[in-house]
Amino acid sequence: MVAYSHLFSPTRIGGKLVKNRLVMAPMLTGFAGLDGEVSSSLIDYYMERALGGVGTVIVEAACIDLPAGLETFHQLRLDHPRHITSLENLSRSISKYGARSFLQIFHAGRQTSQFITGVQPVAPSALACPVTREVPRELTVTEIEDISERFVRGAGYAAMAGFDGVELHAAHGYLINQFLSPHSNNRNDRYGGSLDNRMRLLLDIVKGIKSNSPGLLLSVRINIDDFVDGGLVPEESLIICQQMEEAGVDLIHCSVGTYESGLTSIEPSSYPEGWRIYLSEQVKNAVNVPVVGGGMIRNPQAAEEVIAKGQADFVFLGRSLLADPLWPVKAREGRIQDIRPCISCNNCFSSNSKGLAVNCTVNPWLGNEGRKLSGANRSVRKERVDVIGGGPAGMQAAISLDKLGFAVSLYERQEHLGGLLNLASRPPHKEDINKLSQYLIRQVESSEINIHLNTPYAISTLSDNRPDHIIVATGSKPRIPQIDGWDPGFCCSVEQVLQQEVILKGKRILVIGGGRSGCEVADYLIGDDNESTIVEMDRFLAATMEKKNRRALMNRLEEGKVKRLLSARVLEVHPGQASIKIEHGQIVSLEIDTVIGAAGFTPHNDLFFQLGQHHVSTFLIGDAYQVSGIKQALDQGEMLAQHLYRTRGR
Ligand SMILES: Cc1cc2nc3c(=O)[nH]c(=O)nc-3n(C[C@H](O)[C@H](O)[C@H](O)COP(=O)(O)O)c2cc1C
Ligand code: SF4
Repeated sequence: MVAYSHLFSPTRIGGKLVKNRLVMAPMLTGFAGLDGEVSSSLIDYYMERALGGVGTVIVEAACIDLPAGLETFHQLRLDHPRHITSLENLSRSISKYGARSFLQIFHAGRQTSQFITGVQPVAPSALACPVTREVPRELTVTEIEDISERFVRGAGYAAMAGFDGVELHAAHGYLINQFLSPHSNNRNDRYGGSLDNRMRLLLDIVKGIKSNSPGLLLSVRINIDDFVDGGLVPEESLIICQQMEEAGVDLIHCSVGTYESGLTSIEPSSYPEGWRIYLSEQVKNAVNVPVVGGGMIRNPQAAEEVIAKGQADFVFLGRSLLADPLWPVKAREGRIQDIRPCISCNNCFSSNSKGLAVNCTVNPWLGNEGRKLSGANRSVRKERVDVIGGGPAGMQAAISLDKLGFAVSLYERQEHLGGLLNLASRPPHKEDINKLSQYLIRQVESSEINIHLNTPYAISTLSDNRPDHIIVATGSKPRIPQIDGWDPGFCCSVEQVLQQEVILKGKRILVIGGGRSGCEVADYLIGDDNESTIVEMDRFLAATMEKKNRRALMNRLEEGKVKRLLSARVLEVHPGQASIKIEHGQIVSLEIDTVIGAAGFTPHNDLFFQLGQHHVSTFLIGDAYQVSGIKQALDQGEMLAQHLYRTRGR
């Protein structure tokens, strides 16, 4: 039986049948070639998502005007007919699995950099982008008309390449949005001032595409709210949507935010599921063409409710499909626990904004879809593998080995699987990490893996089992700060606090170390009448954390009145008092009740060295090898399994 009957009900866009209500949101991957060519990684990436059951795929932003319109080096291009052939391979790889294919067409306007394009950015007005700080050159009317024609020609190339449709990128602070928004457009000719003038470029392009490529479906992605002072707001956006409908647009794709609006688009984990669906609901009430809504949709039930309540006709999924391309098919079959959850950590976006190819914390195969092996039971003899440690690295290795046909035994000395994920999910807004842990545990429990909980691994286990390979994934342990006066009577670790072995209420707390875990434990303690001070040697707190999640965390620490001493070092601690060296060598004392050591973690790997003496095929992965977090743990677990599969029997 099909779960989520609204979500999986077919419908039409501009007369063309679409099999369900799920739309893959456009996401720049950085997988295109330097000259904008479609690569085999890009084809594999989209094919995997089409195969995963999404009804409509909107391929990432392709640039129609080189060089000024480019946002990143490895971006698709649609400025010349020579790109048609490779784009046709891409459209075919999507449509052969029954998904509708759209290509997003794009001009960056002022949201790019001379470093990327080699020329000064262009925009409706010479107003600097507050994020890049580059002042763009104001476009002339002739140039605007030329860009309009380039969009129309680009759409024609997309039609020739076999796409069902194109999507005009009129959102997120890029060129068309810059014209629409009074915040970035202060022209006083026919492209500025009144709303009619500001939407002239958009409507000219819409009309041009409709007349030049009549069979091509046309979607427009538009900000319903820019979420910047003086920007586009729903009152005007709804009028624009009605005008677009009149001009023949087939689909309206609602979005929000610009570079400078901060956290509201590509949101950090602190934003609730589907929080901005009220905006597509307003559009739906204002127009008759189909409307796409979404943002932070992770759960099929939430998506189902959007459709059932009539808040949108389609739901877009962005990061959920990076994390698990099979999200739609698993949802349709009611296998919700088997969906690998996106944890909204934004590593994907952060790699993208650094100009790197997109990658995902929870999905080791993102960008390597074509190289994945799935060869269960192809081995002549089942090789035996003992995996030691039930944290993310150990669980991922065990799951992947089991799928590849190995006989796997998993040993965990605690009574639960999960390892450090259990701890990492405790601070505020980290609940998704618990979902990831539950997902991995479910994959282990539903496999043929022999699970041994409460079972430390010893040399005797090795002689009893006689495994072909041993994988040590014993994780990490907290590093105890080397501070004079450290005494467990009033000093404890982050781990002890998060595990509630130490309960802190109404205390003056000194947190030593302002990396991610120090900041998160201070966040965790807000609200219990505690007064926390974080002391950090660096000039910034949580300096290596992803920007949006960091900003959200810093906002909470500020609101929670957590104090900070930066470029500072704790010299000694005593019951009631700590002495701290701050900038310029000055020494201050702080009244305290409790000290929390947040000096990071160190590999826990003694067993590896012991076992390595007895068994030639012993491997060390995850934090036990080098403390580096969930992504590296999952990647190493998966990649080692693939390696053992490729070299089996040798
Ligand atoms: C890595 C990455 C690249 C993106 N690139 C684009 C893009 O090319 N065009 C676009 O309209 N939105 C882009 N977005 C925004 C997404 O389409 C989507 O609106 C956003 O991720 C929020 O939805 P989600 O919570 O479902 O991920 C990108 C997002 C990410 C994470
Ligand atoms: S990197 Fe993080 S935010 Fe991006 S898709 Fe993966 S889990 Fe989600």
